Amino acid sequence: MKYNNEIHKRRTFAIISHPDAGKTTLTEKFLLFGGAIQTAGAVKSNKIKKHATSDFMEIERQRGISVATSVMSFEYKNTLINLLDTPGHKDFAEDTYRTLTAVDSVILVVDSVNGVEEQTRRLMEVCRMRDTPVIVFINKMDRDGKNRFDLLEEIEKELNISLHPMTWPINSGKDFKGVYNLHDKNLLLFTANTKATDEDTVSISDLSLPVLDEKIGEKDAAILREDAELLEGVYGELPVPDYLSGKVAPVFFGSAINNFGVKEMLDTFIRIAPVPRPRPTSVRDIPPTDDKFSGFIFKIHANLDPKHRDRIAFLRVCSGKFERNKYFHHVRLDKDVRFSNPYTFMARDKDVIEEAFPGDVVGLFDTGNFKIGDTLTEGENFFFTGIPSFSPEIFKEVINKDPMKTKQLEKGLLQLTDEGVAQLFTQFGGNKKIIGCVGDLQFEVIQYRLLQEYGASCEFRAMPYYKACWITSADPKKLDDFTRFKSNNIATDKDGHLVYLAQSEWFLNTERSNNPDIEFHFTSEIHKEAV
Ligand code: G4P
Repeated sequence: MKYNNEIHKRRTFAIISHPDAGKTTLTEKFLLFGGAIQTAGAVKSNKIKKHATSDFMEIERQRGISVATSVMSFEYKNTLINLLDTPGHKDFAEDTYRTLTAVDSVILVVDSVNGVEEQTRRLMEVCRMRDTPVIVFINKMDRDGKNRFDLLEEIEKELNISLHPMTWPINSGKDFKGVYNLHDKNLLLFTANTKATDEDTVSISDLSLPVLDEKIGEKDAAILREDAELLEGVYGELPVPDYLSGKVAPVFFGSAINNFGVKEMLDTFIRIAPVPRPRPTSVRDIPPTDDKFSGFIFKIHANLDPKHRDRIAFLRVCSGKFERNKYFHHVRLDKDVRFSNPYTFMARDKDVIEEAFPGDVVGLFDTGNFKIGDTLTEGENFFFTGIPSFSPEIFKEVINKDPMKTKQLEKGLLQLTDEGVAQLFTQFGGNKKIIGCVGDLQFEVIQYRLLQEYGASCEFRAMPYYKACWITSADPKKLDDFTRFKSNNIATDKDGHLVYLAQSEWFLNTERSNNPDIEFHFTSEIHKEAV
């Protein structure tokens, strides 16, 4: 328990959303509150330009920037906040899913006009797999959005989570007058582009007081009174334990671009968001209060300089104290390693650090020692679990265009897929290399990087698969038979696990019902057999 104070100071989280819902804008407002940036617009550059959807040169340029904004640490009211960035582009969704394994909670931004969108759904699925506590921010209330009750119902139904309104909006669009804070019992009147210090808040302990009519007019006051009575009757106080177990999500309404309703959420966030949580490993749950250091790699980022294949591995500290120049145990490789230049991230600057505590993320220079999911400890042999690989959705065969560079191609494929943005499969009983990704853009990035960094040139040939399912069975003979009968659709992943490549949902369902002894998994635990 040596580091209790440090642990309790920290909150590590991510903001997630469907592209364009306002994640970047909200991130920026948080950083402004934390004093980590001084001007609006500072975070914008992190985004892959919307219109450059297939321009991988743009991505190359952005990669450098996104290393710097991968983790943004700032202090707010004596709380040390680590905000982990997630790529906005859907083709990098797998990276986002991985990052979610390194946070203790999330803020989900929903666009009040569009409601629940495709990425919102998927991101929430990942959060639910880990019971991650979620706070919902309904953004863009300055636009004519959906009816607030309908919106809540839609989110609850589509995301399968119970909501608990913390603030309540008074109209939307051009009639948007502000929000009533159901918890603090005050009225926050809407003004565009609010500064952190000059929010127009009116304390209204009793909604029947005439001051409410004065502030928002009789008609809206009457509606708010009715809504508030209904909400208080239905919801009451926020059940914080239910939030912490991922069952109930507090909801805030606001407008990120106008910095409206953001502070209310941030203040609640530091009050209720979980401190660094225990994490499951192959032997036991490791609480952050364990005196011995442990952590895992959740993201690997290639450096920009193609001549040096240096990478940056992002380590989430889970327990104890990480120290510069101290030897730690790399469990998978069974060797001791130390880091002379580990760094931490304060908004846009990188700083070499001497020590880090649970909840912190440390950037480690890596020359190829790390894979996603690797565990570092102070000597003990265990590995963190629950860092899954998800089924890719687009599959392409790799065609080697330069047989003289076969070795480089193979090495490049292995190393690039170690970064976790794409998965490499090998055709069963053959040699065909198949790359699976969640987005088309990844193929362009891989092709480009293979050439730039490894001097290997390749092409891709589309394959007619829609999902990869890891297959297991309690009956080895049944698994063997299935693998042989379906050999055209079978491949192995990098760890040698068997994978069934399904052409369509219909094929998948047919195989599942015809083969009740075979289990089909849509995610795979990385390095399950590492120890
Ligand atoms: P993302 O990271 O989730 O992809 O979204 P981002 O913050 O970039 O916001 C997407 C667009 O929505 C931006 O407009 C942004 O200005 C706008 N936006 C964010 N919050 C609000 C809000 O509360 N109200 C309104 N009306 N708009 C909001 P853009 O025109 O696409 O980009 P930009 O030219 O402003 O950079």
